[in-house]
Amino acid sequence: MMKKAAIVTGANRGLGFETCRQLAKRDIQVILTSRDEAKGKAAVEKLQAEGLNVVAHPLDVTNAESIEHLAQFIRNQFGRLDILVNNAGIARDPLGDSEGSIFNAKVSTICETMETNLHGPLLLCQALIPLMKHHYGRVVNVSSGAGQLSDMKTGFPAYRMSKTALNALTRVFANELQGTNILVNSVCPGWVRTDMGGSNATRSVEQGVETIVWLATLPDDGPTGGFFRDRQPIPW
Ligand SMILES: NC(=O)c1ccc[n+]([C@@H]2O[C@H](COP(=O)([O-])OP(=O)(O)OC[C@H]3O[C@@H](n4cnc5c(N)ncnc54)[C@H](OP(=O)(O)O)[C@@H]3O)[C@@H](O)[C@H]2O)c1
Repeated sequence: MMKKAAIVTGANRGLGFETCRQLAKRDIQVILTSRDEAKGKAAVEKLQAEGLNVVAHPLDVTNAESIEHLAQFIRNQFGRLDILVNNAGIARDPLGDSEGSIFNAKVSTICETMETNLHGPLLLCQALIPLMKHHYGRVVNVSSGAGQLSDMKTGFPAYRMSKTALNALTRVFANELQGTNILVNSVCPGWVRTDMGGSNATRSVEQGVETIVWLATLPDDGPTGGFFRDRQPIPW
């Protein structure tokens, strides 16, 4: 049987990189993507040195042409895709009490954040879910508790709204894909020690990817259209 093929976005560091490692350890063919080609190659070399089956491919999730090139590569090399992890994300809201207020949020920051955190996953789903045509697919959208409507707080307004919108994207795709064995879910990794999370975060990267990897490898009777942390459903 052919190995399953997985794409992880924003995978040269942080949660994306560790997700690649964990998926490759499960004997999945991983395509590690990064917007900086050299950083992607360096990341792949690290995993190959551990004996893992990972290849690099450039991908800027804000660039439609770059997404089409990736889809073409998958079609040519593998003929199909099994797993898509929409992990690439940015948090560009300025820090500080007054800057974090929605009253000071700039439309330019919101647009930039939405482009990466929402439009990227949308274009990737549109381009790559059609390659899951063999009655199997797992899509994981790496969201955040910061986007929970039920627990909305102040600060990082652009980031929060982008993750709420990403959760809506999860629900809309999951609904349209009902009955296809393509399962689409959102995950909150918790507060994780990466460049984004900072060194005071409570979780290691290994802990952070646990539920991402679980959703990426769900059995056929697994959930779809859900939002999970620590493998448990959490409120929207
Ligand atoms: N860390 C946390 O505590 C936490 C909590 C909740 C949710 N999350 C979510 O988890 C995901 C990963 O976060 P992280 O903590 O691993 O962050 P990170 O260390 O800052 O890594 C972010 C990754 O996204 C990539 N990226 C940014 N813009 C991109 C673009 N246009 N195209 C392709 N790749 C792009 C970055 O590439 P470059 O190296 O080129 O910049 C980097 O590889 C994000 O979606 C984040 O919102 C993180």
